[in-house]
Amino acid sequence: MESLLIKGGVPLHGQVHISGAKNAVLPIMAATLLTREKCVIRNVPDLSDVQFMGKILESLGATVKFEDGTFTVQAAKLKGHGDYDLIRKMRGSICILGPLLGRLGKAQVSLPGGCVIGTRPIDLHLKGMRDLGAKITIEKGYVIANARRLSGTELFLGGRSGPTVLGTANVMMAAALADGVTIISSAACEPEVCDLANFLNAMGAKISGIGSPTVTIMGVKELHGVEHEVIPDRIEAATFAIAAAATNGEVQIKGARADHMHAVLDKLGECGVKLERNGPDLTVKRGSRLKPVDITTLPYSGFPTDCQAQMMALMALTPGLSIITERIFESRFMHVPELARLGADISIEGPSAIIKGGRPLSGAPIMASDLRASAALVIAGMAAKGSTQVNRIYHLDRGYEKIDTKLQKLGARIERVEGE
Ligand code: EPZ
Repeated sequence: MESLLIKGGVPLHGQVHISGAKNAVLPIMAATLLTREKCVIRNVPDLSDVQFMGKILESLGATVKFEDGTFTVQAAKLKGHGDYDLIRKMRGSICILGPLLGRLGKAQVSLPGGCVIGTRPIDLHLKGMRDLGAKITIEKGYVIANARRLSGTELFLGGRSGPTVLGTANVMMAAALADGVTIISSAACEPEVCDLANFLNAMGAKISGIGSPTVTIMGVKELHGVEHEVIPDRIEAATFAIAAAATNGEVQIKGARADHMHAVLDKLGECGVKLERNGPDLTVKRGSRLKPVDITTLPYSGFPTDCQAQMMALMALTPGLSIITERIFESRFMHVPELARLGADISIEGPSAIIKGGRPLSGAPIMASDLRASAALVIAGMAAKGSTQVNRIYHLDRGYEKIDTKLQKLGARIERVEGE
């Protein structure tokens, strides 16, 4: 299994280009199931999750081609169920449920597998489909959904920690081909959900209130093929911004959407990081002494949970006390014991991590547990003295396109090696 070997202490310098957004492209790929016609999606990042979703669409009967960042797919003929194991292995694939139900009136989708960051139930997805008139049963590890015709309705999609991102995406896609009008209240407002809604509207859907907690979908008879460019990945951009600050470097982030990153940029500014915006480009440099800040993760436009771990690595390097509270996922602190292995002083109190920052970090062999935790460990490894080996980096490849090559171009001493 591959690992990353990092020799720390090098400030990052130079330019980095941001790839397309993983969390936008996955539901957009699923949305192509809503039409028989060809769809062309550009700015698609080459990630293992994207490859997985491609295989899932193929297992449902679609023809797919992925070349140089362009994904071409045509789901002329479609089966109501795909490869059980493939679907079970990637949580994001649950968003094929809505398109299959909307187009075929039936779907058989394996329940998503477990996840280290939380229980992650799909009760809200199923509630939304039932509200649209679907009969749903759970049998032999499958969600089995049937509906002669879906009918538009008013439905509330809020859960114990607020809106659901993929739940909103799923219901929006099912409702696009339903009879009548659907109004989703407590809808997710993430830029990735908006990118999907814009993709659906380009296919001929009638969705309004995009980006607001109340989304209205006027069902249509059919949708057509389309060409679309995926938005840049705000979480990848934020990860590089935090890495620049953590290594006391200066990095120009090319092709980011700073207007999707207000909460992160606001917190970086508050802790003393210098930020310059120039159109789609963002220059990040550490500036003087960093200050500790407190963070609470929230649904968009609050501070993204997908940047919590990376920000914790930065706070571990920052002299003073900071508190990071995770309000979205109940067990998203798997990176804490690994950061402690590098010398960080972090304790957990319920949903909060208390960071006594500023202790110098020194390299050690550490283990990645999930996608964003692994990004935090890479950042800490680059700031630590000596060598750090990050094992199980397959987590990283799920969500970051060629991150080691991009970091090498910024001067990082990082390489892929055979590991544990
Ligand atoms: C999306 O996951 C992202 N994944 C996650 O990114 C991201 O962390 C999350 O949204 C929150 O921003 C993709 O887009 C592929 P949710 P999703 O449904 O949609 C609870 C990454 O690192 N909930 O918004 O699965 C749930 O347990 C990944 O790129 C229910 O209770 O997240 C959680 O506590 C990790 N019932 C909260 O809502 C449901 O039916 C928010 O989850 C659905 C969700």
